[in-house]
Amino acid sequence: MPPNPTPSDLAKFAAARRACRYVESGMKVGLGTGSTAAWLVRCLGRMVAEDGLRITGVPTSRQTADLARKAGIAITELDEAGALDLTIDGADEFDPGFALIKGGGGALLREKIVAAASDRMVVIADGDKDVATLGAFPLPVEVIPFGLETTRRHIARALAGADLAGADVALRMAGETPFVTDEGNRILDLHLGRIADPRALSDALNRIPGVVETGLFVDLCDTVVIGAADGRVTVRDRATGGETVDRVETAEAAALIA
Ligand code: 5RP
Repeated sequence: MPPNPTPSDLAKFAAARRACRYVESGMKVGLGTGSTAAWLVRCLGRMVAEDGLRITGVPTSRQTADLARKAGIAITELDEAGALDLTIDGADEFDPGFALIKGGGGALLREKIVAAASDRMVVIADGDKDVATLGAFPLPVEVIPFGLETTRRHIARALAGADLAGADVALRMAGETPFVTDEGNRILDLHLGRIADPRALSDALNRIPGVVETGLFVDLCDTVVIGAADGRVTVRDRATGGETVDRVETAEAAALIA
C-alpha cells in the first residue's frame, strides 16, 4: 500500500498543483528537479492523461526525464524545443528579491540553462524555503573535476574577498565517492551562513576557471508559489510586487502517490 502523504508532501503538492494553472496546451515547459518538481510532474501527467493537456516537457535532469516518461509526458531536448514558454522548478531558498539558491539535488547547471531559455520561471516550494537572506542552505557550485583542489583554493580566496573567509567548502559525496552531476562534474557546497550580495558573489565565483556555474539564480525567477500542508497557497509575483493567497484541494495528493 502506498504511504500517506506527509505534511511536507502536501505542502509541496499544493505549490505544484497551483503552478499547473500556468501551463496551457501547446506550451513547451521546463520541468525542474527535486521532490517538489516531482509533484509537478505527477500533476502534469495526470492532466495529460485525464484532461487532454498537450505539452512538451524539457527535463532538467535524467531523474526528471525518467519521471516524466513514466507520467506519460512527451519530452524533448532543450535544443529541439528552442525557446520555452515556462519553467517550473523547486528551490532550496528564495529571498524577497526573488533570488534563489538551487542545486540541492545537484541539477543546478541544467536547471539554470533551462530557466534562462524560458519566457517565465515559476518556483514552487514550501514555506521553509522562504528566507530573508540567502545562505543558511549551503550554496552548491558545479566545478569540473580537473584541478578540483586548485579551483577549491580559488573559491576560498574569492570568499575571503567577499567577507566570507573561513567558510567550509565541502566536496559533495554520494556515499564513499564524490557526487557526479549529469554533466560529469563535481559539486562543492559552500557553507556561508549569509549571502549579503547574491549577484556579486555569483559573478565573483563565475570568474574562477574551473567553476562551471553556481546555484545562485539572480533575475531568473518571476513568480514564487508557496504551498502549505492545509492546501493554502501564496503566490508572489516579481513584476507586480503583488501577493495573492488561495487554496487547492490536497486530497488528490494521495492518489498521485499511488
Ligand atoms: C535540484 C534543485 C531542487 O529544485 C532543490 O534542491 C529543491 O529540492 P526539493 O524540492 O526536493 O526540496 O535545485 O538541483
